Amino acid sequence: MNYIEEINKLKKEKNAIILAHYYQKDEIQDIADYLGDSYNLSVIAKKSDAKIIVFCGVKFMGETAKILSPDKKVLMPHKVLPCKMANDITSKELIEYKKKNPDRVIISYVNTNADIKALSDCCVTSSNALKILEHYKDKKILYCPDKNLANYAAKTYGYDIDFWNGNCNIHDNLTVDDVIKMKELHPNALVLIHPEARYELTQLADYAGSTKGIIDYVNKSDKDEFIIGTERGILHELKKKNPNKKFYLLNECLTCKFMKLISLEDVYNCLKNEEFEITVDESIRKDAQKALDKMLELS
Ligand code: 13P
Ligand code: SF4
Repeated sequence: MNYIEEINKLKKEKNAIILAHYYQKDEIQDIADYLGDSYNLSVIAKKSDAKIIVFCGVKFMGETAKILSPDKKVLMPHKVLPCKMANDITSKELIEYKKKNPDRVIISYVNTNADIKALSDCCVTSSNALKILEHYKDKKILYCPDKNLANYAAKTYGYDIDFWNGNCNIHDNLTVDDVIKMKELHPNALVLIHPEARYELTQLADYAGSTKGIIDYVNKSDKDEFIIGTERGILHELKKKNPNKKFYLLNECLTCKFMKLISLEDVYNCLKNEEFEITVDESIRKDAQKALDKMLELS
């Protein structure tokens, strides 16, 4: 079967769009109507007038689309797509924290499950975290669950930020030695790192920012070589847009196994059978929407 042809037919027939994150497999990125980072994809999910959204990403991304667009059918091509970082915090733990720290504004990374967003004052993504945190700079803040992004913001600006002990393992595993080794191998390359990496690594980078931020930086740069400190899926778009530039992954371990579970066959089955549908309990959804709308307002 020619999955690409069949997917395109089904998309038209059912008034569906496919959204894909930059960490998806190359062939999934290629069939997407919209490719983006967590922030851009949430904006598209909110604005789209399609009837069905097929989200090629992990669970929190599909949930975010559903929270922002409750009248649309949001489908994910694979049933089990957790995010390690999102699972580093539970609502029970956050409720206890809030009881003990009633004076803290709760800012949660979009990489959280819906119940955590519902307990939060505002969400952020890696592309708008610093701007939004600046808005709350005179307040006491809890930033959850990514300790590295919290640390980056706290140390960069000196805000009063308490943080959770969560992380994205693939970014957190990057080391200063990785940067030193790769710089020795490619002395002319610029180092671009996602802020989910540890603070000391962002300090060695020529640029620290979201996946879209990294892509925009490369597209605009007149340099030819780049060391990339984020998930390997981003290389597809970087090479496509910059065929004459060279890219080196900071560490070969930069693979998110959950992001790589979706195949073309899964996307075809998802559209054909309208599975696996994302649902969010309405009372949780309404509260989570407030935190996401606040993010969109402040971005
Ligand atoms: P961004 O899409 O905000 O760059 O975040 C990366 C990520 O970890 C998504 O899972
Ligand atoms: Fe979660 Fe990390 Fe995978 Fe992003 S790369 S989905 S933060 S585990």
